[in-house]
Amino acid sequence: MTKDLESPSTGDIPADELRRQAHRMVDWIADYLEAGARPYPVLARVNPGDVSSRLPARAPEEPEPLDAVWDDFLKIVLPGVTHWNHAGFMAYFGITGSGPGVLGEMLSAALNVNGMLWRTCPSATELELVVLDWLRDAIGLPPGLFGFLTDTASISSLLALAAAREAAGLDIRERGMGGRTDLPRMRVYASDQAHSSIAKACITLGLGLDSFRALPHDEAYRVDASALANAIAEDRAAGIRPLAVVATVGTTSTTSVDPVASIADICEREDLWLHVDAAYAGSAAVCPEKRWCLEGCERADSFVFNPHKWLFTPIDASALYTRHPEIFKRAFSLIPEYLTTPETGTVVDLMDYGVQLGRRFRALKLWWVLRAFGLEGIRARLRHHMGMAQSFAGWVDRHPALERLAPVPFSVVNFRAAGTPSSSPAEVDALNLELLERINASGEVYISHTRLDPGIALHVAIGNLHTTPGEIGRLETVIDEELACLLNR
Ligand SMILES: Cc1ncc(COP(=O)(O)O)c(C=O)c1O
Repeated sequence: MTKDLESPSTGDIPADELRRQAHRMVDWIADYLEAGARPYPVLARVNPGDVSSRLPARAPEEPEPLDAVWDDFLKIVLPGVTHWNHAGFMAYFGITGSGPGVLGEMLSAALNVNGMLWRTCPSATELELVVLDWLRDAIGLPPGLFGFLTDTASISSLLALAAAREAAGLDIRERGMGGRTDLPRMRVYASDQAHSSIAKACITLGLGLDSFRALPHDEAYRVDASALANAIAEDRAAGIRPLAVVATVGTTSTTSVDPVASIADICEREDLWLHVDAAYAGSAAVCPEKRWCLEGCERADSFVFNPHKWLFTPIDASALYTRHPEIFKRAFSLIPEYLTTPETGTVVDLMDYGVQLGRRFRALKLWWVLRAFGLEGIRARLRHHMGMAQSFAGWVDRHPALERLAPVPFSVVNFRAAGTPSSSPAEVDALNLELLERINASGEVYISHTRLDPGIALHVAIGNLHTTPGEIGRLETVIDEELACLLNR
């Protein structure tokens, strides 16, 4: 019996084996990052089911050597990876799981703490709060804002809108919404350019998609603040209860910046919660010359930006700030006996501010990134990306067969092939979708698309630390070559 209990088959792998495997893996990671993943096609060249069909249907009964797992990673998994850490990745928003971030992640996994309570890892809570203060100061938001980390901007905005609902004083926390005749219909306002996570939050919070009112944008894809004021007045007249406004700093398609200060005026006048979604562009405010983009955000009730988007931190890390931490607690804090501690009520227990109990030690990777690069280093890298975006936008502007479709305030460029004078809008869309597929088939670059007022737009987002002017040059060459094939066939 005692012998059984001491059997090595009941413990973790031996330290020497861990060391051997980890050294090989770290060497691979260092080479992979140094090469900017260039040896691989940026967009995975697999068909649906290719990866799963090469995997056994059941987990192994007997232990397998880790060398075999590693081999299968290389043979089966890697070919099915789309390389977001590739120098040529310019789709959606370019991101980077940087070396310092990888180091922080590795330590976080090794410690495997659960920072649900201050006591369950005092350093996880305190480092998170301090690093979030550093970040807040770095982007010029005021000291009064309390910040904590979530996994994604979608969840940050969901929590913020739950806090807005709580602030409305409708007693939904206690009584719910179902079967109540005393509840008005509610409304959340945002631009028609806002991210889909805002409408999804309305679904999740039981407000329904009907509660999401999309407002029109101007010629630069910014929300029209007068349309917001009119919509609120119209809704009030119809007996609908306005709840919150979501302004976006750096919209998903064009990175346009809503007029937050004007929206804040309206929210203050109407007593509405203002949430700002700066998921991508918030990072830019680390550069003083880009601070303008957060003008008015100091008046927001809540504000989110994602270090995992343009701050070189591996997915996931979303920074959520609020002027009203007590309202988040009112919305979410629920403390059963088993989660009480002698410090309850005297310390910050991060479980009190959202839905999740368990919390990864995300602050570690952010701390590593901020210290390894320093704010000056981060500014230099952001400026490099914005410079490359300007250079690419200039190339588009000079190109006789292309047209740029939106301003370029940060590092994202939207453009399209103009087609011929006789092309119908549907033909121009089809031409651009085909051009997109051909560009991405190159394996050297990966870009995405969106729909803007004139039609389909090709979307180039520069945000990876490995991207150089060489990649931008390759992108231009590939566009030229593929466009020539399409136009001359
Ligand atoms: C403006 C904006 N908000 C929210 C999101 C969602 O981010 P996440 O994937 O962190 O939920 C995105 C994603 O691109 C975005 O562009």
